[in-house]
Amino acid sequence: MSLDGAVMLGPARFGGVCGLRRHLHPAAVARLVMERTEHRLLCGEDADDFADRHGMAGADLLAEDARAAWQDWQRRRAAGDASAIDQSKDAGLLGLRPIDPGPGSKSGGRLFRPGSDGLEGAAPFGHDTIGVLARDREGLLGAACSTSGLPFKVPGRVGDSPIAGHGLFVDPGVGAATATGTGELISGICASVVAVETMRRGGSPLDAIVDVMRRVEAVGDLRPHHQVALIVMDASGAVATGGFRPGFLSVVCDDDGSRILQPDLVHRPDDEALPESATDGFAKSVPPPTA
Ligand code: GLY
Repeated sequence: MSLDGAVMLGPARFGGVCGLRRHLHPAAVARLVMERTEHRLLCGEDADDFADRHGMAGADLLAEDARAAWQDWQRRRAAGDASAIDQSKDAGLLGLRPIDPGPGSKSGGRLFRPGSDGLEGAAPFGHDTIGVLARDREGLLGAACSTSGLPFKVPGRVGDSPIAGHGLFVDPGVGAATATGTGELISGICASVVAVETMRRGGSPLDAIVDVMRRVEAVGDLRPHHQVALIVMDASGAVATGGFRPGFLSVVCDDDGSRILQPDLVHRPDDEALPESATDGFAKSVPPPTA
């Protein structure tokens, strides 16, 4: 178990940590990096040591149920259970991850807990990345992102969450974005910076999400169990949320209290559900993926 996280107020004010193994709140440690150093990103044991030196309490990150699942996986691997061996064999990664071929297959997605407490529209598989965007009364924007990445990841793997432009991005005069889902896909297109740049060119927050969906799709690496989802906010505070798959829920907190939001856009599996802007608006300028 290792954690990544970041905070960002703008291109000149950003902090991130990755590979924490002894501290439970990576975004809080990232904030210390932003506020108390001239650096942007600390990693691994040195990031944990930094957190210690700055007074953060340590914690055991592995919950009992996660430890039990990991031990069960080890037992099955040792017993030669092929379903426990590896989704990465083709990539030559020595069986470090279990199979996760997604829904519909025999062992599909079983490492990911179903549902999210029965909420309507909840993701078919549990997911633990949290992204937050904030805007204060003076219009100051901020973003934070926090994750354990993936279950059973290759040790040392770092996703999008602690990296500016990938898991989060803020340009104070333009807007902010934060992403969740498969970090490899998000990083591959620098999804959060793509979203903010779409707004810089005049697009709405929803246009920004459509732009990201189209770009991820164009890469052509989207597998059935992948998700990429975003929250996007422009400088005025207008917000849009959306993702490839159903189940990306957000919460908005404002003067009227807090409430759960269903996504403005679910790009797949029903592509007809694209918003009008995707076919008759700014986002039209994004070319459809080639076959
Ligand atoms: N989006 C979180 C991760 O892939 O690490």
